[in-house]
Amino acid sequence: KLERSFVMIKPDGVKRGLIGEIINRFERKGYIIKDLKMMTIPETLAEKHYQEHQQKPFFNELIQYITSGPVVAMILEGENCISGVRTIVGSTDPTKAAPGTIRADYATNIRYNVIHASDSPESAQREIDLFFK
Ligand code: CMP
Repeated sequence: KLERSFVMIKPDGVKRGLIGEIINRFERKGYIIKDLKMMTIPETLAEKHYQEHQQKPFFNELIQYITSGPVVAMILEGENCISGVRTIVGSTDPTKAAPGTIRADYATNIRYNVIHASDSPESAQREIDLFFK
C-alpha cells in the first residue's frame, strides 16, 4: 500500500550533524521525500504533536527538548512507508533497538533518541497536517 509518513530529525540529531546520514538511509531504501523543512518548533505545536503524552511524567522535559533547537521535518512516501520507516528507526529505547537501526546506531538515551516517525496511518495524517499546513 502506498503510504506517507511524517519523520522528524530531533534537535540532538541536527546538533550532532546526522541529517545527511539519516536522510541517506531513507533515500537508499527507496522512499521519496515529498516535502522537507528545517524549523524550530513553537511550544504550542510541540504540545499538539505530543498531546498523547500530556499525562506522562516526562512531558515537560519532552517539550523543552523538542523546542531546544532546529529540527528537520519531512514527509516520506513509499510502499508500506509507515511501518517500513519504523523498522529503519528502531525501538524508542535505544538499548532495545535492533542492531543497524538508526536509534541503535546513533542514540544511547530513551529521551534523546535522534528521530521521530509516525506510528500509524492516523498519526501520520495528523502529524503531516500539523507540520505542513
Ligand atoms: P518518540 O517515541 O518519538 O515520542 C515520545 C518521546 O518521548 C520519545 O520519542 C522520547 O523522545 C520521549 N520519551 C519516551 N519515553 C521517555 C522516558 N521514559 N523519559 C523521557 N523521555 C521519554
